[in-house]
Amino acid sequence: MRYTKLYCPIRISLRSKFLLSVMALLACGTAMAQISAYNVGRPPTESELRVGDNVVGSDGKELPRGSGTAKEGAPIFAAKCATCHGQNGEGVPSYPRLVGGVGSLNTPTPVFTVGSRMAYATTIWDFINRATPPWPLPKDLTPDNVYALTAFILFKNGIIKETDVLDKKSLVEVQMPNRNGFYPNPPQSSPDKNRSWLPYWNQAKPAKKPAAK
Ligand code: HEC
Repeated sequence: MRYTKLYCPIRISLRSKFLLSVMALLACGTAMAQISAYNVGRPPTESELRVGDNVVGSDGKELPRGSGTAKEGAPIFAAKCATCHGQNGEGVPSYPRLVGGVGSLNTPTPVFTVGSRMAYATTIWDFINRATPPWPLPKDLTPDNVYALTAFILFKNGIIKETDVLDKKSLVEVQMPNRNGFYPNPPQSSPDKNRSWLPYWNQAKPAKKPAAK
């Protein structure tokens, strides 16, 4: 039922345009009558609608201006993050490590960290920006702080140097070690009946076992 209400915002945004309001009301009327009968849901607020606007993708086009280095990130990390993630990102019991495991994913003892598994450094920036410091600590990081913290974590993972400056451009250029460790997306244009883009055990015709030596 919530969805039907979400699909009707045209009535709200064009409130002044009476005719359109009536048309939209006609279209949404039945659904909205049902919503009020159950008395659940409400229209999303403007700020709730904007929540997705600052999600940073792999091309970094949503990134704000600003910059930071691992050196600048170290004291911020020590003050706001180390209680849970350890002084050097090694983690503390029950809290995740952020550092290490690079090259371990295809071994019997994989170590999953943002450094070892993420394909794009922008994902680390986005996580820090939107989710840290976690509640109930104040969300008071500036874009410069977030660039610096991202740089600190990448430096501790051995991916960039301590003095490398991360900004809107250089962050996108960081080569994450696991960039090519993912199976490609299924092809969008030409359907591949044999699903050759999947690992062999999921393909239509399993590959023959290699001959015994
Ligand atoms: C109160 C403890 C706590 C503090 C303080 C904290 N974190 Fe975290 N952090 C967590 C927990 C718990 C998770 C795992 C959350 C999850 O998986 O949903 C996490 C996850 C993360 C991740 C993603 C890890 C992954 O492998 O996906 C990053 C990056 C991160 N934190 C960075 C930071 C930074 C930077 C700070 C300081 C600004 C910080 N955290 C402060 C508890 C904390």
